[in-house]
Amino acid sequence: MGDLYLWIKAVHVIAVISWMAGMLYLPRLFVYHVGVAPGSEASETFKVMERRLLKVIINPAMIVAWACGLTMLYLGTFGAWIWVKFALVTVLSGVHGHFVKLQREFQRDENTRPAKYFRILNEVPTLIMIFVVILVILKPF
Ligand code: HEM
Repeated sequence: MGDLYLWIKAVHVIAVISWMAGMLYLPRLFVYHVGVAPGSEASETFKVMERRLLKVIINPAMIVAWACGLTMLYLGTFGAWIWVKFALVTVLSGVHGHFVKLQREFQRDENTRPAKYFRILNEVPTLIMIFVVILVILKPF
């Protein structure tokens, strides 16, 4: 594979780092947001932070990660590990979709979930990221 493939992979890894940074930070904002009164100045500040994190970082990074990933999938040949990875990143994208729904509930002051829910939810992208990176670096099968 020529340099082009390596440039696509480099952009892929940059996008993945940004996506994961946002996916690990957003649930933390939700944990703190639960602790302040709806309509308060602090709550309005959390709304701005959550909205910008999603719109400016998480959403674009996911799109670039998928675009580069699918391009490499088309250009390269891989062992069976790539399909386990594909399943994991599809679940991760579903978690992303759930975060978008949660952000909209907070935006409308309609969240009813406790902080504990977001603390546990925070671990889901973390675990998926760990499995994906081990798979893609070790390529075990
Ligand atoms: C969003 C959907 C994704 C698709 C379709 C995808 C697909 C791919 C493909 C085809 C490669 C090239 C593998 C190679 O050349 O050996 C790759 C590389 C890589 N991917 Fe993804 N990926 C996705 C998401 C992710 C995520 C979420 C992570 C990390 C959390 C990740 C981490 C990596 C890393 C570290 C590499 C470089 C591996 C190497 O240099 O051998 N990818 N990805």
